[in-house]
Amino acid sequence: MCGIVGYAGNKNVESVLIVGLACLEYRGYDSAGIAVVDEDEIIIRKEKGKIKALEALLKEKPVKGKVGLGHTRWATHGEPSRINAHPHTNEKNTIAVVHNGIIENYIDLKNELQSKGYRFQSSTDTEIIPHLLNDELKSGKKIDDALMSIYKRIIGKWAIAVVFESEPDKVFFAQDGAPLLIGKGKNEYFLASDLSALIRNCDEVAYLSSKQWGFFTKEQFQLFNFEGVKIEAEFKKQELKWEEVDKIGFPHYMLKEIHEQTSIFRRVLEKRINDKNEIEFTELIASKEFLTKVNRFVIQAAGTSLHSGMIGKHYLEQFAKVQTDTDMSSEFRYRNPVVEGDTMIIAISQSGETADTLASVHEAKAKFLKVISMVNNVNSTIARESDAFIDTCAGVEIGVASTKAFTAQVLHLFLFSIYLARLKWMITDEQMKEIVDEVKTLPTKIESILQRASEIEKWAKDFVSSKDFVFLGRTYNHPIALEGALKLKEISYIHASGYAGGEFKHGPIALITSDVPVVCIANKSEIYPKMISNIQEIKARNGKIISIVTEGDTSAKSMSDYCFEIPDTHDFLSPILSVIPLQLLSYYVSVARSCNPDQPRNLAKAVTVE
Ligand code: AGP
Repeated sequence: MCGIVGYAGNKNVESVLIVGLACLEYRGYDSAGIAVVDEDEIIIRKEKGKIKALEALLKEKPVKGKVGLGHTRWATHGEPSRINAHPHTNEKNTIAVVHNGIIENYIDLKNELQSKGYRFQSSTDTEIIPHLLNDELKSGKKIDDALMSIYKRIIGKWAIAVVFESEPDKVFFAQDGAPLLIGKGKNEYFLASDLSALIRNCDEVAYLSSKQWGFFTKEQFQLFNFEGVKIEAEFKKQELKWEEVDKIGFPHYMLKEIHEQTSIFRRVLEKRINDKNEIEFTELIASKEFLTKVNRFVIQAAGTSLHSGMIGKHYLEQFAKVQTDTDMSSEFRYRNPVVEGDTMIIAISQSGETADTLASVHEAKAKFLKVISMVNNVNSTIARESDAFIDTCAGVEIGVASTKAFTAQVLHLFLFSIYLARLKWMITDEQMKEIVDEVKTLPTKIESILQRASEIEKWAKDFVSSKDFVFLGRTYNHPIALEGALKLKEISYIHASGYAGGEFKHGPIALITSDVPVVCIANKSEIYPKMISNIQEIKARNGKIISIVTEGDTSAKSMSDYCFEIPDTHDFLSPILSVIPLQLLSYYVSVARSCNPDQPRNLAKAVTVE
């Protein structure tokens, strides 16, 4: 998705902006640009494609200055092109704007401006902003009033940054629903839409809330609400370390993040399970009583987080005995869902910024429902707008394909269900001991899978030319079939679909030919014989079987063309182990097909537009 950076200070603004933009690359983008305020003019440089293309342009046509803005664009209105890239300016080039999010009423505003004679260069919604500001200033308003007037006119979830030729020392910024934060350095201020762009340069950051705006120079910072009332910004020490956003020797972030899963599980279990072997969610202490009275959970999420939510439904129903529905957040708000006062929403989001999931939180609040979010970014909008949040503690995830955040979500959904079941006296001490003992074995089991990653790496070359893949799983592993398919298609561009094993013969089995690899998750469980039936049906149609089985398996293995053994565990914990070989499979197939798994085409790390 789009990214914003801004700077006022004594350093060379061009380098600060380029370094900041490079830190936002992982979010996904198709063009990039900067606006630098020179003494008496605003200079724009922008280019389609990667930041390297912008750097090449800057080498050819360097810029100098101490104040400026930068942007990476992920096309929504208008194709990826130099013209549509940000910054956008007014006709006289005296105002430059970068923008994240969508302006929903831009067509009306554009018509209004065009009827006044304003001419547009791009197909973007963003370009209305410099023209609107131009129009307000032309009517005699001061810059502050002009800005406050347009904030109320542009509808949607957005964040913007603006520079004016007439105020060459200042960077103006505002947000209404899209993240923006300010970094404080020594005699310098920074602006960014994502913390990763700030960590190299500043120790202290302040997160903006919705409907806030302000400006900074190199030595002064001011914040206001949209009514113009001054607000004290809260600068806090930022804890993110550089190593956390470095590849530390791995060829891709995705592989690094897959391998981090062992240490994350160790860390989470240490944090969440106390000396008495009880699960702790200190962040939920205030909600304890309410939680025991919840009659129904509705899980809201998108993509990979939706798949973890689907496993969470099993956990909450199985252990805490609370009816649970899992819903795509993009659908929830538009279907007027039936909910009662004792329904609780669980919003799951790695980034905590996904527009659909945020909208579902707003919809829930409008229905007076309590919301717990499960996020990997505790400073995110979703965390801040929920009644309580659970930190999934996976650390920053940079690869667009979510891996470590997914398993951390599943683990937290499991621990939360057991925690709730204990609150409701539904699990005995002996059962608890048995569960905790088993869950504590997970890090070692994950490690043992990762040590055998090369087995899967060897298979990858056999699938370089595959056109279609099918993934099958049942009960706890049905969402893993969906997740395996999503992972493969998003980073290798091979078409893949996941199905519940039982549904397969009701239509999708028609897809099977000797060219279609079918991944069957056939771990030891009550429904193992049913997965064996699936495998036999596929074999009978010459399908190629890749099976994920429990170590020691013989039946499924004997019928498989490729087989990966995962350590034995309870069926309910098996998705945490079975997903890892599928993450590795998609990664190695992507690399074998010469794709970039970290920055797949058309995708963004956080989908901040609806
Ligand atoms: C995961 O691999 C995907 N890139 C995507 O489906 C993602 O999980 C989805 O957009 C939701 O993101 P969130 O968890 O940040 O809300």
